[in-house]
Amino acid sequence: MTGDGGWIPENLDPARPSPARIYDYALGGGHNLASDREVFDQLVKIQPNARQIAWSNRAFMRRAVLFMIESGIRQFLDLGSGIPTVGNVHEIAQKADPECRVVYVDIEEVAIAHSRLLLDEVEKAAIVEADFTRPDDVLKHPETLKLIDFSAPVGLLAVASVHHVPAEIDVYSAFDRYRDAVVPGSALAISHFTADFEKVHAKEIIEAVQAKAHNTACLRTRSEIIDLFGDFEMVSPGLVAASNWRPDITPPPGVHPEQDGIWAGVGVKR
Ligand SMILES: C[S@@+](CC[C@H](N)C(=O)[O-])C[C@H]1O[C@@H](n2cnc3c(N)ncnc32)[C@H](O)[C@@H]1O
Repeated sequence: MTGDGGWIPENLDPARPSPARIYDYALGGGHNLASDREVFDQLVKIQPNARQIAWSNRAFMRRAVLFMIESGIRQFLDLGSGIPTVGNVHEIAQKADPECRVVYVDIEEVAIAHSRLLLDEVEKAAIVEADFTRPDDVLKHPETLKLIDFSAPVGLLAVASVHHVPAEIDVYSAFDRYRDAVVPGSALAISHFTADFEKVHAKEIIEAVQAKAHNTACLRTRSEIIDLFGDFEMVSPGLVAASNWRPDITPPPGVHPEQDGIWAGVGVKR
């Protein structure tokens, strides 16, 4: 059930910021509250290009989906899909081929509520409320089984979501399970916030969010993120700064890859 505006769950505490809504605000979306905006405004003081980091990540997602479509993939499982905003996966994919099917997965109540509203009228796309670190809850969910045919290639997306999984949770076994569940020709796109970029104050950013919001985070290193791809073959250019992954324009205006703070890449199951 939702309250005012349809997207605000009735039991939501407006004073408690949420990472999904902070990210929505960073992207210029409209599903955020004063408490979220206050945290993001603090982040901009720590990292002046914070908004650009969010956009670089979102732009990587679009290019990864288009790469998967070019590779013949027509169904997508979006793990940690967030609050729907500009350029959602089903919009990108169904514009390329209206037959594309998308299952969104998220755990955050505003993301779920707003996704339900948005997808109400949309065929071939659904939101599953689940914790993606529990793959069976996702893979065996009735909506997943309705939309995804596991005998055909699947595009797995984990875009800016795995860094919310704390180190004590075995996210590697979860990704082993997702990779095993899909057939050759499938692909996995991951983007992940990291402390590897000298010009990005990643630890301070995470601390500032954690001080205010109910949030968990883990700043994995490049090699720890590569491990999530298991035996999938990384496609060129490998795991790189998000803006450097097959950019449409080189260099994109106003973008400084050394300040992305996010590793991004796509692997394919051969
Ligand atoms: C920063 S948003 C990214 C949204 C979108 N993928 C993008 O990159 O534009 C991260 C999302 O991951 C979700 N998330 C984090 N941990 C999750 C988990 N264990 N299961 C499901 N969703 C999760 C959060 O609720 C949030 O909506």
